[in-house]
Amino acid sequence: MTFTDVPAPFVTPTTEHGRRFAGQVAIVTGASRGIGLAVAQRLVDEGARVVVTARKPEGLAEAAEQLGSEAVTVAGRADDPDHQDEAVRTAVERFGRLDVLVNNTGINPAYGSLLDLDEGAARKIMDVNVLAALAWTRRAIAAGLGREAAGAIVNMSSVAGLSPSPGIAYYGVSKGALINLTIQLAAELSPHVRVNAVAPAVVKTRFAAALYEADEAKAAAGYPLARLGVPEDIAAATAFLASSDAAWITGQTLVVDGGAALSPRL
Ligand SMILES: NC(=O)c1ccc[n+]([C@@H]2O[C@H](COP(=O)([O-])OP(=O)(O)OC[C@H]3O[C@@H](n4cnc5c(N)ncnc54)[C@H](OP(=O)(O)O)[C@@H]3O)[C@@H](O)[C@H]2O)c1
Repeated sequence: MTFTDVPAPFVTPTTEHGRRFAGQVAIVTGASRGIGLAVAQRLVDEGARVVVTARKPEGLAEAAEQLGSEAVTVAGRADDPDHQDEAVRTAVERFGRLDVLVNNTGINPAYGSLLDLDEGAARKIMDVNVLAALAWTRRAIAAGLGREAAGAIVNMSSVAGLSPSPGIAYYGVSKGALINLTIQLAAELSPHVRVNAVAPAVVKTRFAAALYEADEAKAAAGYPLARLGVPEDIAAATAFLASSDAAWITGQTLVVDGGAALSPRL
C-alpha cells in the first residue's frame, strides 16, 4: 500500500486544552511574539498566571492584551541581571509563587563562516543563549521554584544544537551548550526541579522568516510531515515538559522537527 494518492493531512496542533497549570505561576522569557508568546498563551489557557518578558514595551503591550489579566509583563534584556531580578520579583510579588521557568530567549546576530565570526558577537550569543538561562535558573531557584512544590524549567534549544548548521554555526554551538546546561542542571536540581529542553527545526516566526519567506513550499519540502512548524507546535511540547505529564522526565531534549531528522542526508 502507498499513500501517494492520498492528500497530505497537514495536521495542525489542537486548540482543545486541559488545565495542567491551574494554580501555578510561570515566567516565559522573550515572549512578546513567536514561540514565547505561544508558550505563554498555552500556559495561560491551561490555568497558569505568567510573567512574560522582552526588550520592547510596545510588543509586550500587544502580548499583554492577547494574554489577558492572567499575565504581567516586564521589559528588559534577557542577559541583564537587574531585569532578571525584577521579573522574578514580579512573579513572586504579584502571584505569590513560582513553578515554571521557560528560558525561551535566543539570538543570532552572526551569519557566515566560523572562520569569519566576530568574537564580540560570539560572546553576546553565549551571554544571551546560555549564560542568561543559567542566571534566570539561579534566580528562580532562589525565589522558591521547586521549594514547596515540584518545579520545572524548559530551555528553548534548536536542532542547530544537534547537527551542522552552516551559516549559523555559532548559534548552533550556543544551542548545543544549552542542551548540555540542561543535562547538568537536571542532575544538580533533581528531585525538586526537572530541567528539559526543546529543539525545534524551522518554525514560522519573525526570527526564522529569512529561511522560508521567499518560497515556503520549497522550505517545507524536506519535512516528512509536509509543513513548517508553527509556534503552537513548540508550545505544546514545552507545556508537556513543564507539566506533571512529564513528571518522570528530566535532562532530556525533545526534538520537534516535523520529522526532518528522518530525511536521508547522503
Ligand atoms: N523560529 C525558529 O525556526 C526557531 C527554531 C529553533 C529554535 N528557535 C528558538 O526559539 C526561541 C524563540 O524564537 P522565535 O522564533 O519565537 O523568535 P521571535 O519570533 O523573533 O521572538 C523573539 C522574542 O524574544 C524577544 N527577544 C529577542 N531578543 C531578546 C533579548 N535579548 N532579551 C529579551 N527578549 C528578547 C523578542 O522581543 P523584543 O524584540 O522586544 O526583545 C520576542 O518577544 C529562540 O531561543 C530561538 O533560538 C527558533
